[in-house]
Amino acid sequence: MTVLLDTTVASTEEMGALGARLAAVLRAGDLVVLTGPLGAGKTTLTRGLGAALGARGQVSSPTFVLARTHPTTSGPDLVHVDAYRLSDPVELDDLDLDWDASIVVVEWGRGFVEGITDSVLDVEIVRATGADATDAAPDDLDPDDVPDEPRRVVVTATGPRWVGVTL
Ligand SMILES: Nc1ncnc2c1ncn2[C@@H]1O[C@H](COP(=O)(O)OP(=O)(O)O)[C@@H](O)[C@H]1O
Ligand SMILES: [Mg+2]
Repeated sequence: MTVLLDTTVASTEEMGALGARLAAVLRAGDLVVLTGPLGAGKTTLTRGLGAALGARGQVSSPTFVLARTHPTTSGPDLVHVDAYRLSDPVELDDLDLDWDASIVVVEWGRGFVEGITDSVLDVEIVRATGADATDAAPDDLDPDDVPDEPRRVVVTATGPRWVGVTL
């Protein structure tokens, strides 16, 4: 396990930029797991990541669809998964995702992806100001209405895929 990045992200815009920075190293077969409370910025990061990949369609919270596949102009599909309602890792396997041909980003994925692949990029987002999940923004809230607030982001790489990779 290697910590690739441990940083403060000051704003919504910066979180999108961090997503783009991650996108620059991603390729088909990669798995990114996003961890953090509701309103942390997981979808915001994925949106920036998707924009950088040239993802078609709106990257939004996939809560009610579990997984959404976005073709991209840069190559592999972006598959955006929300594991929030999954109760068992087997269910993630049951989605029959084309892991090898896609870049897979899983919100709430920790504990679900272990065993599916040996290489994972784990992104943990925590609110830096001590606010808890109870005042978090609902996923459908207009982002413009949520004031910027710093987040701490720690990116940890596990497995052979990430040996020698820097962000
Ligand atoms: N530093 C920041 N990073 C990311 N999002 C932020 C930040 N400051 C404020 N926000 C706001 O917090 C909300 C995060 O929502 P979202 O990305 O849907 O979270 P999650 O997917 O983790 O539940 C957005 O409304 C975003 O504008
Ligand atoms: Mg989300």
